[in-house]
Amino acid sequence: MLRAANSLLRTGSSPNQWQQCMKISSSKATYFAAAPNPQTNPDILYTGLFINNDWCKSKSGEIFPTVNPATGQEIAQIQAGGKEDVNIAVAAAREAFKLGSPWRRMDASERGSLLYKLADLMERDRSYLASLETFDNGKPFSASYYVDVPFSIKNLRYFAGWADKNHGKTIPMDGDYFAYTRHEPVGVCGQIIPWNFPLLMMAWKLGPALATGNTVVLKPAEQTSLTALYMAQLTKEAGFPEGVINVVPGDGKTGALIANHMDVDKVAFTGSTEVGKLIQQASGSSNLKRVTLELGGKSPNIILSDTDMDYAVEQAHFGLFFNMGQCCCAGSRNYIEDSIYDEFVERSAERAKKRTIGDPFDSTVEQGPQIDNEQMNKILELIESGKRAGAKLVAGGERHTDLGDGYYIKPTVFADVQDNMRIAREEIFGPVQLLIRFKNIDEVIERANKSEYGLAAAVFTKDLDKANHIVQGLRAGTVWVNAYNAFGAQVPFGGYKMSGHGRENSEYALQNYTEVKSVIVKVPQKNS
Ligand code: NAI
Ligand code: MG
Repeated sequence: MLRAANSLLRTGSSPNQWQQCMKISSSKATYFAAAPNPQTNPDILYTGLFINNDWCKSKSGEIFPTVNPATGQEIAQIQAGGKEDVNIAVAAAREAFKLGSPWRRMDASERGSLLYKLADLMERDRSYLASLETFDNGKPFSASYYVDVPFSIKNLRYFAGWADKNHGKTIPMDGDYFAYTRHEPVGVCGQIIPWNFPLLMMAWKLGPALATGNTVVLKPAEQTSLTALYMAQLTKEAGFPEGVINVVPGDGKTGALIANHMDVDKVAFTGSTEVGKLIQQASGSSNLKRVTLELGGKSPNIILSDTDMDYAVEQAHFGLFFNMGQCCCAGSRNYIEDSIYDEFVERSAERAKKRTIGDPFDSTVEQGPQIDNEQMNKILELIESGKRAGAKLVAGGERHTDLGDGYYIKPTVFADVQDNMRIAREEIFGPVQLLIRFKNIDEVIERANKSEYGLAAAVFTKDLDKANHIVQGLRAGTVWVNAYNAFGAQVPFGGYKMSGHGRENSEYALQNYTEVKSVIVKVPQKNS
């Protein structure tokens, strides 16, 4: 579906196309109905801490600003969760988790109903949520409206359905015993999420945690707290009991308090590999809390000479530039077979130069600003390193200065990239596409795998045998064949190697949020 959204996004989301899409299937109609006009200056309703279904200020009085990346202007001041606040939030989540609490007494099917209700409320407020996401994050409104919000809704509904279906097993055990397993919630779950897909990452984390009966202390990224805070209010409106979902905004210090907390049973994290390591260490030096990590990537996209050139150029462009390149699975290392390399470079550069960049509320814009000054500077520095290392710049290569103070970078394409250059090894997390030449398939598999990361990969070819051979050889959690960035709530997503561990989405995600209890019952063979 993301692919469908992409092809429509490219064309500026004209109502005709959405209508065409609506004819395809009625279930898609809800998602592809023509977008309303965005609210370019949405009301900011919540900036506090959300604990026990109530809004409060931080005990320390600390606040921090959130900024509109398209203008560099401050939007609002947010309450920063400190030590005392995190303790209170964790205590609230613990209380809500106690046996006999409304949440623990609730039927599993009722938990599912609450998640369905939350999804319905998101649908009701879709236009506002999409506007707020674009205002705080800078992504095009067309993406917020057609991708982030509807995919979040779908995710919550997917996990709502699991709530009363995650059952254990009965086991034929030796001896006079009857054994069965129970899938029980882990307990209080810390969830630390990033800024690139604020709503979607929140949905990915909340869905499986709540479906399986856990309680949550969630920390949004400091750049993008606003939609998470609005969602907190929606969870209250949906009817979740107090203490089940707590949202504590703040920066890395707040995140570290959660990761180190002795009464948090599990932490789920999405973000940098650097912080992922800190989170795992924090678990080791506190209470060995369960940890799942979804970290960085440097995903290879392998394009064979027999592929449909127009399609592959467009998919490779989308695979990298979608969301301003701020995707953990971005297809940044494009390996292109020697015989089509020069043409592929030319066409990719042409496509990048045509990419429309500017005000994310303008429906014809494909690319908005980067999230903040720090990320923009990191990307610009890596671009300079690529130039110095001798990569051939064929598009962009600098900040876009005609667009005011927003953090805009011109869509950038480097050709003649070598595997050992910094740009080919480090996660750039920006609109910088790398085109690398290869000559034979086994060589390219080895080079593709020569990375500390293993999140995603793709291969484009019409030859099924070659595709299958490459799929088998690649060490990555997701491999797309003749596609890029196709996602579904039903399909697991996560990394090999330093891209993390654990899988989000799908039935596999339930395992992150459940403990397995073995119950062994003596069954007397005689009636005594
Ligand atoms: P980050 O990893 O610092 O931030 C992600 C989340 O972790 C935020 O909520 C942040 O407040 C929190 N955090 C930061 N330090 C923490 C700590 N010590 N303990 C607990 N939580 C902590 O990522 P950042 O600095 O925003 O971006 C740096 C790079 O990370 C990016 O350039 C990109 O390469 C990568 N990244 C990857 C993401 C992904 O989806 N895998 C998302 C965001 C960033
Ligand atoms: Mg950081």
